[in-house]
Amino acid sequence: MRLRTTACTATLVIGLAAFLQAALPGTAQDPESAPPAVDEAHDDETPLAVQMEIIEESMSKLRRTVRKPEQDAQSLELLSKIQTAVIASKAQPPAMIARVPEGERSAFLAAYRKEMIAFLEQVLAIEKALLEGDHDTARAAHKAASAMEDTGHETFTDDE
Ligand code: HEM
Repeated sequence: MRLRTTACTATLVIGLAAFLQAALPGTAQDPESAPPAVDEAHDDETPLAVQMEIIEESMSKLRRTVRKPEQDAQSLELLSKIQTAVIASKAQPPAMIARVPEGERSAFLAAYRKEMIAFLEQVLAIEKALLEGDHDTARAAHKAASAMEDTGHETFTDDE
């Protein structure tokens, strides 16, 4: 009987300690069981959406800088940023892949990567024209790259 009471008390104490450890902020936690760190700025976004926002912001700044030879340095910096984000995007499957039938997934992913490559080539064309001092061609190439947003999104995003 006494033994059972002692065992019961021990269970209570262990239970209480576990509760306090979970409930009190700042209490040391086993790193293995700690929740993964959340990037609070992007906690509900896919890794691809994060890259897309970088592309959107830089493409929009570039629309203004690309016309002005005195802003070539900014344009080239923006172009590097866009290219890095496109390379990162190319490796990220679109969220829509989950709703593509299994048998069609590899074709869908190949088409997606090819579209990203085409977009990257268009962004590189802007850079090449700027390096040649041809701002009219750079502007036209920027316009063509911007137009790829609609076709890319029509094919590789859905409403989910
Ligand atoms: C000027 C070019 C582009 C711009 C400015 C742009 C911008 C964006 C933006 C703002 C989003 C929403 C991000 C969010 O949810 O917060 C997005 C999503 C997306 N974009 Fe683009 N985009 C461009 C080109 C492309 C291209 C060429 C493709 C495909 C080859 C593409 C594929 C996608 C996909 C699949 C998503 C959904 C994100 C996901 O599935 O996780 N985008 N884009």
